This record gives sequence, structure tokens and C-alpha cells, in this order.
Amino acid sequence: MLFFLIGYMGSGKSTAGKKLAKLLDYGFADLDDHIEKRSGRRIADIFAIEGEEEFRRLERLYLEKLCKLDNQVIATGGGTACFGKNIELMKSSGRVIYIKLSAAALAKRLSQSTNNRPLLKNTSNKSLENFIEEHLAQREKFYTQADLIVNGINLDIKELAQQINSTQ
Ligand code: S3P
Repeated sequence: MLFFLIGYMGSGKSTAGKKLAKLLDYGFADLDDHIEKRSGRRIADIFAIEGEEEFRRLERLYLEKLCKLDNQVIATGGGTACFGKNIELMKSSGRVIYIKLSAAALAKRLSQSTNNRPLLKNTSNKSLENFIEEHLAQREKFYTQADLIVNGINLDIKELAQQINSTQ
């Protein structure tokens, strides 16, 4: 079985994914790390030099490769679910979990790390919450196609694992 964690930047997909994998005794893969390692390029450089379109092409390519594995928890990037029918691919390859947080909570978490996120680097902290609110509204129609939606505030991984087992 594969479990995909989706959700906006800063929702805690990688942290939750690592814990969930440990609990389930599964492998863990972070799609962004995988792209960087396999392509030999940093995500920030891919965005800056080749552009978002090339990043989305690589994201799809490596997502397809990860979908061929088994018994893995896969933390995706914030945009993965929202491009090129990736949500359909993930849903047909395993179970998709959306870690949901409000724009206000995300803005609070992301205010320290906009510089290393290509899509946020030109947004000031003052306008961050508004930006996220609009961006999240565009993305929610993809995120909410997940098989399971969980509240990202104080996310309890043991509870999440129980929920996964009880809804299998
Ligand atoms: C992106 C989120 C990033 C990374 C890339 C694009 C997005 O991942 O994949 O910068 O479109 O939201 P995180 O969600 O891990 O920050």
C-alpha cells in the first residue's frame, strides 16, 4: 500500500510522513528530496533557471516512479496534487491524505521560511496570509479529493494510523 500526504506548503507533510512511516513500519519518501537527488538540481534552481513548467514535469516524472513502489508513505510538494492529473494518479496508486490548515495557521508557520520557497519568495510577511488565502482557495478543489482529510493542528499520528486502519 502507498499513502500520499498532500496539503499546502508548511502543512507538515514531511514531518507527519516520517512519523507515520515509522509507526506503520513503511518506507518514507519525500517527493521534493527525491526530485533534487535524482535530477541533481535544487528545487529553487529549477524554478529560477528552467521555470515552474520544468519543475512540474520533473515532479510528475518522479511521482510516477514513486508510485511503482510498495509500502511507502510519500510526502508530496504543496502543488503536486494540483497539476496534470497527479491527484488521479495518486488516488489510483494508493490512499491520499490531505493535511488541512487554515490560511492564518499556514501564514504563521511559513513566515520564517518564505525565502527558501520559490512560490513565496516575493511575498512579504504582511501580505502572506492574503496570498495564501487566495492560493489555497484555488488549490482546495484538488486537495479535497483526498480519501481522508485531517486537521493539521496538533496532528496525532497514532490517531491518524488508527483512522487509516478503520477506513480501509
Ligand atoms: C510547491 C511546494 C514545495 C515545492 C515547490 C512547489 C508548491 O513543497 O514542491 O516549491 O507548488 O506549493 P513544500 O510543500 O514541501 O514546501
